Amino acid sequence: MYQLVKPLLFKMDPEEAHGRMIKALKFIQKHPALLTLTNRMYNFEHPSLTQTIQGISFPNPIGLAAGLDKSCEVPKALQYSGFGAIELGGITPKPQPGNPKPRMYRLPSDYALINRMGFNNIGMNKALSNLRRFSYSLPIGINIGVNKDTPYERRYNDYISVLDTFKYDATFFTINISSPNTANLQNFHDKDEFSMLCKAIKDYRQESDLTQPIFLKLTSDLDLDGFKNILPAITETFDGVVLANTTQQREGLKSTHKNEGGGLSGRPLFERNRELVRWAYRQTDGQFPIIATGGIFTAEDAISMLRSGASLIQIYSSLVYEGPGLTSKINKAIAKYLRDHGYENVSELVGLDHKNTSN
Ligand SMILES: Cc1cc2nc3c(=O)[nH]c(=O)nc-3n(C[C@H](O)[C@H](O)[C@H](O)COP(=O)(O)O)c2cc1C
Repeated sequence: MYQLVKPLLFKMDPEEAHGRMIKALKFIQKHPALLTLTNRMYNFEHPSLTQTIQGISFPNPIGLAAGLDKSCEVPKALQYSGFGAIELGGITPKPQPGNPKPRMYRLPSDYALINRMGFNNIGMNKALSNLRRFSYSLPIGINIGVNKDTPYERRYNDYISVLDTFKYDATFFTINISSPNTANLQNFHDKDEFSMLCKAIKDYRQESDLTQPIFLKLTSDLDLDGFKNILPAITETFDGVVLANTTQQREGLKSTHKNEGGGLSGRPLFERNRELVRWAYRQTDGQFPIIATGGIFTAEDAISMLRSGASLIQIYSSLVYEGPGLTSKINKAIAKYLRDHGYENVSELVGLDHKNTSN
């Protein structure tokens, strides 16, 4: 069905199309019969797909990546769309409009997007009220960003404020230091700045009653030396790592908008991010949870990320190109792959490429 609607959507400005999709999800969310129908169309459950990671039970490994629902507007509709988890946000303490439009581009020949949204969201308090309108049976992640006008040396407080605000409502958190659309945010990848952030998070954890896992999302543009420098602090402070956010590289692209500023997502990210997953898995002896994101379009892509060392997957750009049926399509194919290869559970695939096996 999406392939029928897609040409119409692709004629619209990408952000307008996104707005319409949010409106449609809001409509679905108001009508229990439509939620049931959505669930029937898009949800696929199988015991072989379930995993418990950092104490959280995930019904399947395919999660929604951050950025699609930045203000917790449609979490209930998303919950019925077949994902194994939903990451909402990025949310900042104060509301902010983000960068001037246009700020989102499709690169159809490259199966990619470029965005420079700049953490447009309604702020943590209103986002929390939105989230509290419903109850959830899926893991709900909150992706945290930093306000544009927060003084440089106080920026780590923004992460703490959002953690504290959502501490009774989120299942997990993701600290996003990797958006290229907030000036100097990626400086948190530098060892000294990163250790200040880690100290703030550790101090907060000690003095608060927050018990949920906190993941860290890195940029795809981090080189391996830089990654190595902060890896010990990552594993000491966080409960997992999301690899990886968008890139500012533009190599090999064919589409008209290839030189727009912002973060490139989608297919061109896949190889690089898989390399980061593979490297991180090896460096941590497979003992540290990795969530893979970036250009995952097919079950083969997802299986390859799992085999490279990811325990969970997150998707966004592929949903724009393939539509909402993608999640169940990938999940069904993973379940079949497990059955065909004699595995009982998806966790058996995690890191398999690092072990001696012919499967
Ligand atoms: C329009 C848009 C907005 C995004 N906003 C966020 C965000 O607020 N926080 C974040 O951590 N990642 C954000 N991302 C990055 C995605 O979560 C994801 O990590 C990235 O797009 C790579 O996955 P993909 O290739 O499947 O899209 C955004 C991506 C897009 C396309």
